[in-house]
Amino acid sequence: MSRNADPLEILFAAAKAAQANAHAPYSNFRVGAALRTPEGALFCGGNVENAAYPEGWCAETSAIAAMAAAGARKIAEICVIGDGEALCTPCGGCRQRIREFADDRTIVHVAGPEGVRATFRLSALLPESFGPGHLRP
Ligand code: THU
Repeated sequence: MSRNADPLEILFAAAKAAQANAHAPYSNFRVGAALRTPEGALFCGGNVENAAYPEGWCAETSAIAAMAAAGARKIAEICVIGDGEALCTPCGGCRQRIREFADDRTIVHVAGPEGVRATFRLSALLPESFGPGHLRP
C-alpha cells in the first residue's frame, strides 16, 4: 500500500513539472511555480520568454493567471523552483503579484532540483507592502 504523499511534496512535484515546460530559450533559466489555494486546489506554470525580451513573464505570473482563470482568489502557499546554487526567490514584481492574493499566513517555498531549500512568509519577502486593503479604507 502506498503512503499518502506530503502536500508540500505534491506542490514541489507540480512546480518541477511546470519548470520542465517553461519556455526559456533566451535566458536558459527555467523556472516553475505551483500554488495551493486554501481549498486545496493546485495551479502551476512556468516562465514564458519572448523574442521581444521584455514581453516575457515569470513562472509565478503564469501560476497566478491559471488560478485567476479558474476563479480562485487566495494563495495559501506557493513553491518556486529554479536551477543553480542560488535561491530562486520570487522577483520583486512577482512578490507584489502574490501579495494581491495573499494574507498574513501566505507561505513562499523556494526550491532547487533536489527539493525545497527555504520557506518564508510573504510578509518577510515583501515587508510593509501595499495591497488591496489600501484601496478599501
Ligand atoms: N524568473 C521567474 O520566472 N521567476 C522569478 O521570480 C525570477 C525570474 C524568470 C524570468 C526569466 O524568464 C528568467 O527567469 C531569467 O530571469
